[in-house]
Amino acid sequence: MNQPDPQQRYAHVTGWGRYVPSQVLTNHDLERMVDTNDEWIVARTGIRERRVAAAHETTASMAAVASLRAIRTAGLEPDDIDLILLATLTPDYWMPSTAALVKEAIGNTKAAAMDVAAACSGFVYAYASAQAYITSGMARHVLVIGAELLTRFLDYTDRSTCILFGDGAGAVVLSASDERGGGLGIEMTTDPQGAYMIWLPAGGAKAPPSAGTIARGEHYIRMEGKETYRFATKTMATTALESVRRSGLDPSDIALFIPHQANIRIVEAVAKGLDLPMERMFVNLDKYGNTSAASVPIALAEAVNEGRVQVGDNVVLVAFGAGFTSGAVTIQWTTDPARGIAGDAAVSPHDVTVRLPVDWDSVDPIPDALAAIMAQPGTVDVPLDDVVPGEPEPAHREVHA
Ligand SMILES: CC(C)(COP(=O)(O)OP(=O)(O)OC[C@H]1O[C@@H](n2cnc3c(N)ncnc32)[C@H](O)[C@@H]1OP(=O)(O)O)[C@@H](O)C(=O)NCCC(=O)NCCS
Repeated sequence: MNQPDPQQRYAHVTGWGRYVPSQVLTNHDLERMVDTNDEWIVARTGIRERRVAAAHETTASMAAVASLRAIRTAGLEPDDIDLILLATLTPDYWMPSTAALVKEAIGNTKAAAMDVAAACSGFVYAYASAQAYITSGMARHVLVIGAELLTRFLDYTDRSTCILFGDGAGAVVLSASDERGGGLGIEMTTDPQGAYMIWLPAGGAKAPPSAGTIARGEHYIRMEGKETYRFATKTMATTALESVRRSGLDPSDIALFIPHQANIRIVEAVAKGLDLPMERMFVNLDKYGNTSAASVPIALAEAVNEGRVQVGDNVVLVAFGAGFTSGAVTIQWTTDPARGIAGDAAVSPHDVTVRLPVDWDSVDPIPDALAAIMAQPGTVDVPLDDVVPGEPEPAHREVHA
């Protein structure tokens, strides 16, 4: 990496890409696991379905596909990237970093690589860090990734959490330029009063994994839904507003907000707080649920590929999450939106592999309750997997377009 230098620079988004697993888990599927129903989930959250990674997929594998798509969209080669920042709360391992696995999987030999831990705000925090590296002159092309495999950390007996989350990955490439544009004002907050509002108790130094922690279900995500909801509705709009103000702009100057996709009612509160119509908010949480750090970059890639962002538009990414954290970045869009679709098409998930360790095989990673329900007749005909021994055979499924 370069040493910092004082010359004025900007960090433009030159590439973007996303990857979501094929397997769909609908609200109706969840009705067969916990005491819930589609109407309740749609009314309280706006979520209709979410994606579930197959047994052979990992946070790193999904991240690598999204990353290569972003790199192709930018018209770059993997070795042009000189820093990889990967935001996740579901890394493949405690160590090495998932960013290091992604570096190897995409064929990069030069970049420094590290993970960023800021839960659902992680991608915005990583983006802000990337912008700082670029504007200081320390990096020229930074790959920023948000990737999560949350369905392996959910308690499928807890209806208040298991309905909310899904799997996926998104990535952007930020590139240095002397031309004004790209990321402008940034705002980030952390409120430690929220530390135990969304948490995963066991597995860390305070409660190392043991038969006891597993018996108590402490390896699953826990959440105080109401407190989290209150924090989100209070904070998202003010965080976004501060980022817009630091860019010398007004909310009415923003073509599209890309909020963290946690709950439609929270997104509606952001629109209300900014006094803007819902048409200015991008929403895809109905399809994917909450994918934590992956939600903003997946939404950004979809928004651009769907023609919702044009060159010259101002766009705001805004997120909140465990910590409590929140973050927002205002971006002046400068890259031809049409490039994204070609970038996506250039990379097939089948061509991307993450190297496995020698002489070690993980246990079946899919939680039993989830594996059982996915093997029953459902909505799509995507085989669960044939890689992991003992996985239930997929039953016949109806295909719908
Ligand atoms: C989780 C959340 C959807 C719950 O909605 P809510 O309106 O607060 O619902 P409540 O928790 O008050 O529960 C209302 C009732 O529905 C029940 N309920 C909870 N989950 C349910 C489900 N999946 N299906 C049916 N009923 C459910 C509760 O048990 C409660 O029943 P009771 O009144 O008999 O006790 C909402 O609090 C939320 O979205 N919070 C923020 C979560 C979030 O965004 N987390 C990620 C942060 S990055």
